[in-house]
Amino acid sequence: MSASAFRVPGISRRDFVGGGTALGGAVLLGACSGGGGQTRASLITPDDARVGAVEDGRDATGREHRVTLTAAPTTLDLAGTTAATWAYGTSVPGDELRVGAGDTVVAELVNDLPDPTSVHWHGPALRNDMDGVPGLTQDAVAPGERFTYRFVAANPGTHWFHPHVGTQLDRGLYVPFVVEDPDEPLSYDEEWVGVLDDWLDGVGGTPDDVLDELLQGMDGGSGHGGHGSGDGDGPMRMGRTLMGAASDYLGGDAGDVYYPEYLVNGRPAGDPRTFEVAPGARVRVRFVNAGGDTAFRVALGGHTMTVTHTDGYPVEHREADALLIGMGERFDVLVTLEDGAFPLVALAEGKGRAAFAVVRTGGGSAPEADTRPEELEGRVIVATDLTADEGARLAEADPEVEHRIELTGGMADFDWGLNGRRHDPEDPAGNAFRVAEGQRVRLTFTNATDMWHPMHLHGHHFQVGADGPRKDTVILLPGQTLSCDFDADNPGLWMTHCHNVYHGEAGMMGVVGYSA
Ligand code: C2O
Ligand code: CU
Repeated sequence: MSASAFRVPGISRRDFVGGGTALGGAVLLGACSGGGGQTRASLITPDDARVGAVEDGRDATGREHRVTLTAAPTTLDLAGTTAATWAYGTSVPGDELRVGAGDTVVAELVNDLPDPTSVHWHGPALRNDMDGVPGLTQDAVAPGERFTYRFVAANPGTHWFHPHVGTQLDRGLYVPFVVEDPDEPLSYDEEWVGVLDDWLDGVGGTPDDVLDELLQGMDGGSGHGGHGSGDGDGPMRMGRTLMGAASDYLGGDAGDVYYPEYLVNGRPAGDPRTFEVAPGARVRVRFVNAGGDTAFRVALGGHTMTVTHTDGYPVEHREADALLIGMGERFDVLVTLEDGAFPLVALAEGKGRAAFAVVRTGGGSAPEADTRPEELEGRVIVATDLTADEGARLAEADPEVEHRIELTGGMADFDWGLNGRRHDPEDPAGNAFRVAEGQRVRLTFTNATDMWHPMHLHGHHFQVGADGPRKDTVILLPGQTLSCDFDADNPGLWMTHCHNVYHGEAGMMGVVGYSA
């Protein structure tokens, strides 16, 4: 597991801050970097006083939400097949966490797993020392240990949380996290959360087995067991991996991993979840892609959806027949429901299968699990088609610092990286992309690989292009370049990485660090 970035963090936070002495935050992170040879001057660390000062400046209501998150082994019933897995509590996904903007989350993680773990809060821009990245912002929480996360949830929106250790998020360890806007401008009768997932854990292996196979590379041969199987057209299964999963929407290769099931809110197509409401109701649906290696193309048969938000931020409303959602991304839609029973279908893009649920407002037989509503081939919206709502737009300014980040590597050696370098968990901030508090920053991502990647930045919401949506996770197609601008207003050490959990673990990760 040498390339498993955070499975066993190589350095503790103690090492990181120079032997545990209080240095007022600004510390020297070692003598020189692993690559490039440039000297590393001081970076703001998670224990810096600036982190607490920025937190104190957030609009807090003073209300506290206390929750215990017990990460533990459990089982998931997949329409009769029992999968052994790990989850928060006993359900997959774990019980939704819902707070108001400005409320303080006090979440005690209890680690009843056999492995170290952590909780990363994907979406809220929170204080750096609560970001949940072992080796960077905290020590991993050892088996039998506890850790209390405490932070102000400042920005409203559809978020989620998951571990930031190894491939754990591709188990059942994920939970939707909704921060409600006290001044919610939208009106709707009902609200649903639809969490999409690709599932393999406990059904013939674990995500760690998958990573081991992938790390042998497509040239390795032995990792694929020699048992290719396919139905002629469509992807070819090789052991736990996939060859030839292709999607025009993703610019070619859609994914690397074979999943036996695809889930909506923890339920497989063979035992689907039914959402019920009265006909004519206007419903807000919050979609979260919690998958490890699958983009979903989502449509509700017989309906058009109005896209209102992505990654928690409002966008100019846009009609869509279907949405393309990469791993880590969220989309909110409004939909006014017809009378009847309708299929909610989330195509596993390029993989020939789908997650499925039923929306019912009246009588009539339920749709078949293998229906493919024509909306899937209609107006398919991806995030880069959207425009930020005026109130969500960054003030116009020229970037004061730009980092060009090339996505590199490939399937042959499974050597995914940034700028030709695989992330080094022993020295996570060794090649940090430096910013300074108060700067307008531009990250220019160029995808120099043959595969799409959903790139994620912790702690911030960049604007995609000149007037695109504010986001924390954005799809980059092969060959594509996107500029992602943000204001450096949240000091600390922040991961930026591919949200394909296998690509991230293989090395497609880096750190944005604030100069002290
Ligand atoms: Cu949702 Cu660094 O992750
Ligand atoms: Cu990737």
